[in-house]
Amino acid sequence: MSDPTAPSGGAAVAPIVRAEGLTKTHHGEGAPVHAVRGVDLTVRPGEFVAVTGPSGAGKSTLLHLIGGLQRPDSGKLWLDGQRVDEYREARWAVLRRRRIGVVFQFFNLVSNLTVADNVELPALLAGASPRAARESRAELLAELGLEGRDKSMPGELSGGEQQRVALARALVNHPALLLADEPAGSLDSKGTREVLRLLSRFHQRGQTILMVTHDARMASAADRVISFFDGRIADDAELGAGRRSPSGGVSGVLELKE
Ligand SMILES: Nc1ncnc2c1ncn2[C@@H]1O[C@H](COP(=O)(O)OP(=O)(O)OP(=O)(O)O)[C@@H](O)[C@H]1O
Ligand SMILES: [Mg+2]
Repeated sequence: MSDPTAPSGGAAVAPIVRAEGLTKTHHGEGAPVHAVRGVDLTVRPGEFVAVTGPSGAGKSTLLHLIGGLQRPDSGKLWLDGQRVDEYREARWAVLRRRRIGVVFQFFNLVSNLTVADNVELPALLAGASPRAARESRAELLAELGLEGRDKSMPGELSGGEQQRVALARALVNHPALLLADEPAGSLDSKGTREVLRLLSRFHQRGQTILMVTHDARMASAADRVISFFDGRIADDAELGAGRRSPSGGVSGVLELKE
Protein backbone atom coordinates (compact mmCIF):
# COMPACT_ATOMS: atom_id res chain seq x y z
CA MET A 1 0.00 0.00 0.00
CA SER A 2 1.48 3.36 -0.92
CA ASP A 3 1.56 5.99 1.75
CA PRO A 4 2.25 9.64 1.02
CA THR A 5 3.77 10.11 4.46
CA ALA A 6 6.41 7.44 3.85
CA PRO A 7 9.94 8.80 4.13
CA SER A 8 11.70 8.58 0.79
CA GLY A 9 13.71 5.42 0.55
CA GLY A 10 12.45 4.15 3.92
CA ALA A 11 9.71 1.74 4.88
CA ALA A 12 6.15 3.02 4.50
CA VAL A 13 4.70 4.59 7.63
CA ALA A 14 1.61 2.64 8.60
CA PRO A 15 -1.56 4.68 8.89
CA ILE A 16 -2.63 5.07 12.51
CA VAL A 17 -6.15 4.05 11.57
CA ARG A 18 -7.22 2.01 8.61
CA ALA A 19 -10.79 0.78 8.28
CA GLU A 20 -12.28 -1.23 5.47
CA GLY A 21 -15.99 -1.82 5.14
CA LEU A 22 -16.75 -1.19 8.81
CA THR A 23 -20.39 -1.94 9.56
CA LYS A 24 -22.42 -1.72 12.74
CA THR A 25 -26.14 -2.25 13.26
CA HIS A 26 -27.70 -1.49 16.64
CA HIS A 27 -30.45 -3.79 17.82
CA GLY A 28 -32.45 -1.81 20.33
CA GLU A 29 -36.14 -1.66 21.12
CA GLY A 30 -37.49 -0.93 17.66
CA ALA A 31 -36.25 -1.76 14.19
CA PRO A 32 -32.52 -2.39 13.79
CA VAL A 33 -30.55 0.82 13.21
CA HIS A 34 -27.84 0.66 10.56
CA ALA A 35 -25.57 3.18 12.27
CA VAL A 36 -22.38 2.55 10.27
CA ARG A 37 -22.76 1.13 6.77
CA GLY A 38 -19.48 0.16 5.24
CA VAL A 39 -16.90 2.79 6.09
CA ASP A 40 -13.44 2.94 4.54
CA LEU A 41 -11.15 5.34 6.33
CA THR A 42 -7.44 6.01 6.66
CA VAL A 43 -5.94 8.40 9.18
CA ARG A 44 -2.23 9.12 8.85
CA PRO A 45 0.12 9.90 11.74
CA GLY A 46 -0.11 13.53 12.76
CA GLU A 47 -3.45 14.24 11.10
CA PHE A 48 -6.22 16.14 12.85
CA VAL A 49 -9.48 14.83 11.40
CA ALA A 50 -12.92 16.19 12.27
CA VAL A 51 -16.05 14.12 11.69
CA THR A 52 -19.22 16.17 11.36
CA GLY A 53 -22.78 15.30 10.43
CA PRO A 54 -26.35 15.39 11.66
CA SER A 55 -27.54 13.86 14.89
CA GLY A 56 -28.01 10.12 14.49
CA ALA A 57 -25.69 9.89 11.48
CA GLY A 58 -23.53 7.32 13.27
CA LYS A 59 -20.54 9.48 14.23
CA SER A 60 -20.25 8.25 17.81
CA THR A 61 -20.75 4.68 16.70
CA LEU A 62 -17.88 5.06 14.25
CA LEU A 63 -15.63 6.48 16.97
CA HIS A 64 -16.62 3.67 19.33
CA LEU A 65 -15.72 1.09 16.69
CA ILE A 66 -12.31 2.68 16.15
CA GLY A 67 -11.64 2.80 19.90
CA GLY A 68 -12.83 -0.78 20.43
CA LEU A 69 -15.67 0.36 22.69
CA GLN A 70 -18.07 -1.41 20.34
CA ARG A 71 -17.39 -4.28 17.93
CA PRO A 72 -18.16 -4.07 14.21
CA ASP A 73 -20.56 -6.58 12.64
CA SER A 74 -18.27 -6.76 9.65
CA GLY A 75 -15.29 -5.02 8.15
CA LYS A 76 -11.66 -4.82 9.09
CA LEU A 77 -9.77 -2.41 11.31
CA TRP A 78 -6.06 -1.81 11.71
CA LEU A 79 -4.44 0.45 14.27
CA ASP A 80 -0.77 1.21 13.70
CA GLY A 81 -0.76 -1.50 11.07
CA GLN A 82 -2.07 -4.10 13.50
CA ARG A 83 -5.32 -5.90 12.74
CA VAL A 84 -7.51 -5.28 15.78
CA ASP A 85 -11.15 -5.91 14.83
CA GLU A 86 -11.02 -9.42 16.21
CA TYR A 87 -9.38 -8.45 19.49
CA ARG A 88 -11.21 -9.49 22.62
CA GLU A 89 -12.07 -6.96 25.31
CA ALA A 90 -8.98 -7.61 27.46
CA ARG A 91 -6.65 -6.97 24.53
CA TRP A 92 -8.57 -3.84 23.56
CA ALA A 93 -8.27 -2.59 27.13
CA VAL A 94 -4.50 -2.93 26.97
CA LEU A 95 -4.40 -1.24 23.56
CA ARG A 96 -6.54 1.66 24.77
CA ARG A 97 -4.36 2.11 27.82
CA ARG A 98 -1.18 2.28 25.80
CA ARG A 99 -2.07 3.66 22.41
CA ILE A 100 -5.45 5.42 22.45
CA GLY A 101 -6.73 8.35 24.50
CA VAL A 102 -10.48 8.85 24.62
CA VAL A 103 -12.43 12.00 25.55
CA PHE A 104 -16.20 11.99 25.64
CA GLN A 105 -18.78 14.71 25.68
CA PHE A 106 -19.62 14.27 29.34
CA PHE A 107 -16.17 14.13 30.89
CA ASN A 108 -16.39 10.61 32.37
CA LEU A 109 -14.20 11.58 35.28
CA VAL A 110 -14.34 9.37 38.34
CA SER A 111 -16.35 11.63 40.64
CA ASN A 112 -14.94 10.36 43.95
CA LEU A 113 -11.29 10.65 42.91
CA THR A 114 -9.35 13.90 42.98
CA VAL A 115 -8.27 15.59 39.78
CA ALA A 116 -4.73 14.31 40.35
CA ASP A 117 -5.89 10.72 40.85
CA ASN A 118 -8.16 10.88 37.78
CA VAL A 119 -5.19 11.86 35.62
CA GLU A 120 -2.67 9.51 37.23
CA LEU A 121 -4.92 6.45 37.15
CA PRO A 122 -4.46 5.55 33.46
CA ALA A 123 -0.71 6.01 33.77
CA LEU A 124 -0.58 3.69 36.78
CA LEU A 125 -2.80 1.16 35.02
CA ALA A 126 -0.42 1.24 32.08
CA GLY A 127 2.47 0.37 34.40
CA ALA A 128 4.06 3.76 35.07
CA SER A 129 5.77 4.16 38.44
CA PRO A 130 3.88 6.34 40.93
CA ARG A 131 6.60 8.95 40.57
CA ALA A 132 6.46 9.01 36.77
CA ALA A 133 2.65 9.18 36.91
CA ARG A 134 2.87 12.11 39.33
CA GLU A 135 5.33 13.94 37.13
CA SER A 136 3.30 13.44 33.96
CA ARG A 137 0.17 14.54 35.77
CA ALA A 138 1.79 17.70 37.13
CA GLU A 139 3.19 18.58 33.72
CA LEU A 140 -0.12 18.07 31.92
CA LEU A 141 -2.24 19.92 34.47
CA ALA A 142 0.15 22.87 34.29
CA GLU A 143 0.03 22.74 30.51
CA LEU A 144 -3.76 22.75 30.61
CA GLY A 145 -3.91 25.68 33.03
CA LEU A 146 -5.02 23.57 35.98
CA GLU A 147 -2.09 23.84 38.34
CA GLY A 148 -3.26 24.08 41.92
CA ARG A 149 -6.44 22.12 41.16
CA ASP A 150 -4.97 18.67 41.64
CA LYS A 151 -6.62 18.12 45.02
CA SER A 152 -10.04 19.30 43.82
CA MET A 153 -12.86 16.84 43.22
CA PRO A 154 -14.35 16.90 39.70
CA GLY A 155 -17.65 18.27 41.03
CA GLU A 156 -15.85 21.39 42.27
CA LEU A 157 -14.67 22.33 38.77
CA SER A 158 -16.45 24.16 35.97
CA GLY A 159 -17.45 22.25 32.86
CA GLY A 160 -14.49 23.63 30.93
CA GLU A 161 -12.09 22.68 33.70
CA GLN A 162 -13.51 19.17 33.92
CA GLN A 163 -13.14 18.79 30.19
CA ARG A 164 -9.51 19.85 30.43
CA VAL A 165 -8.95 17.25 33.16
CA ALA A 166 -10.54 14.67 30.84
CA LEU A 167 -8.12 15.79 28.14
CA ALA A 168 -5.17 15.45 30.55
CA ARG A 169 -6.34 11.97 31.46
CA ALA A 170 -6.65 10.99 27.81
CA LEU A 171 -3.16 12.29 27.02
CA VAL A 172 -1.24 11.09 30.09
CA ASN A 173 0.05 7.94 28.37
CA HIS A 174 1.10 9.87 25.24
CA PRO A 175 -1.37 7.96 23.06
CA ALA A 176 -0.61 7.61 19.38
CA LEU A 177 -4.27 8.38 18.71
CA LEU A 178 -6.65 10.72 20.51
CA LEU A 179 -10.34 10.00 19.96
CA ALA A 180 -12.61 12.84 21.01
CA ASP A 181 -16.40 12.69 20.78
CA GLU A 182 -17.83 16.21 21.00
CA PRO A 183 -15.01 17.21 23.36
CA ALA A 184 -16.61 20.59 23.90
CA GLY A 185 -20.20 19.48 23.39
CA SER A 186 -21.46 20.55 26.77
CA LEU A 187 -19.39 23.72 27.07
CA ASP A 188 -20.16 27.38 26.43
CA SER A 189 -18.23 29.29 23.80
CA LYS A 190 -15.37 30.17 26.14
CA GLY A 191 -14.98 26.55 27.17
CA THR A 192 -15.16 25.49 23.55
CA ARG A 193 -12.37 27.91 22.64
CA GLU A 194 -10.21 26.57 25.47
CA VAL A 195 -10.60 22.98 24.36
CA LEU A 196 -9.98 23.96 20.75
CA ARG A 197 -6.84 25.85 21.62
CA LEU A 198 -5.49 22.90 23.58
CA LEU A 199 -6.29 20.37 20.89
CA SER A 200 -4.62 22.60 18.31
CA ARG A 201 -1.55 22.90 20.47
CA PHE A 202 -1.22 19.15 20.89
CA HIS A 203 -1.83 18.69 17.19
CA GLN A 204 0.98 21.14 16.40
CA ARG A 205 3.27 18.87 18.36
CA GLY A 206 2.29 15.90 16.26
CA GLN A 207 -0.67 14.42 18.13
CA THR A 208 -2.99 12.48 15.83
CA ILE A 209 -6.60 13.41 16.58
CA LEU A 210 -9.91 12.03 15.38
CA MET A 211 -12.67 14.29 16.68
CA VAL A 212 -16.44 14.19 16.29
CA THR A 213 -18.04 17.61 16.43
CA HIS A 214 -21.17 19.39 15.27
CA ASP A 215 -19.43 22.74 15.70
CA ALA A 216 -18.16 24.29 12.46
CA ARG A 217 -15.58 26.30 14.31
CA MET A 218 -14.16 23.20 15.99
CA ALA A 219 -14.11 21.40 12.64
CA SER A 220 -12.26 24.25 10.98
CA ALA A 221 -9.29 23.69 13.31
CA ALA A 222 -8.75 20.26 11.73
CA ASP A 223 -6.65 19.36 8.67
CA ARG A 224 -9.42 17.34 7.22
CA VAL A 225 -13.18 17.27 7.61
CA ILE A 226 -15.25 14.16 7.05
CA SER A 227 -18.98 14.64 6.60
CA PHE A 228 -20.84 11.66 7.90
CA PHE A 229 -24.38 11.05 6.76
CA ASP A 230 -26.65 8.09 7.26
CA GLY A 231 -23.84 5.76 8.31
CA ARG A 232 -21.53 6.64 5.45
CA ILE A 233 -18.80 9.10 4.56
CA ALA A 234 -20.52 11.63 2.31
CA ASP A 235 -17.51 13.89 1.89
CA ASP A 236 -13.85 13.84 2.93
CA ALA A 237 -12.04 17.12 2.41
CA GLU A 238 -8.51 18.22 3.21
CA LEU A 239 -8.61 21.82 4.38
CA GLY A 240 -6.29 24.15 2.49
CA ALA A 241 -2.67 24.14 3.62
CA GLY A 242 -2.78 27.93 3.25
CA ARG A 243 -4.82 28.12 6.43
CA ARG A 244 -1.96 26.71 8.41
CA SER A 245 1.41 28.08 9.35
CA PRO A 246 4.54 26.76 7.56
CA SER A 247 5.26 24.46 10.52
CA GLY A 248 1.99 22.69 9.74
CA GLY A 249 0.41 24.06 12.88
CA VAL A 250 -2.69 26.14 13.16
CA SER A 251 -2.37 29.82 12.37
CA GLY A 252 -2.79 32.74 14.74
CA VAL A 253 -6.57 32.75 14.23
CA LEU A 254 -6.76 30.24 17.03
CA GLU A 255 -4.32 31.91 19.37
CA LEU A 256 -6.70 32.80 22.15
CA LYS A 257 -6.14 34.75 25.28
CA GLU A 258 -6.97 33.21 28.64
N1 LIG B 1 -26.71 1.30 21.84
C1 LIG B 1 -27.61 1.59 20.90
N2 LIG B 1 -28.72 0.85 20.73
C2 LIG B 1 -29.62 1.14 19.77
N3 LIG B 1 -29.50 2.14 18.89
C3 LIG B 1 -28.40 2.92 19.00
C4 LIG B 1 -27.40 2.68 20.00
N4 LIG B 1 -26.44 3.61 19.86
C5 LIG B 1 -26.80 4.39 18.82
N5 LIG B 1 -27.99 3.97 18.31
C6 LIG B 1 -28.66 4.55 17.15
O1 LIG B 1 -27.74 4.53 16.05
C7 LIG B 1 -27.83 5.73 15.30
C8 LIG B 1 -26.47 6.40 15.28
O2 LIG B 1 -26.16 6.82 16.60
P1 LIG B 1 -24.85 7.63 16.94
O3 LIG B 1 -24.85 7.84 18.40
O4 LIG B 1 -23.68 6.93 16.35
O5 LIG B 1 -25.13 8.99 16.14
P2 LIG B 1 -24.36 10.39 16.19
O6 LIG B 1 -24.06 10.74 14.77
O7 LIG B 1 -23.22 10.29 17.13
O8 LIG B 1 -25.47 11.37 16.74
P3 LIG B 1 -25.31 12.66 17.71
O9 LIG B 1 -24.79 13.77 16.82
O10 LIG B 1 -26.72 12.91 18.14
O11 LIG B 1 -24.39 12.31 18.82
C9 LIG B 1 -28.93 6.56 15.96
O12 LIG B 1 -30.13 6.34 15.24
C10 LIG B 1 -29.01 5.99 17.35
O13 LIG B 1 -30.33 6.11 17.87
MG1 LIG C 1 -22.80 11.18 18.95
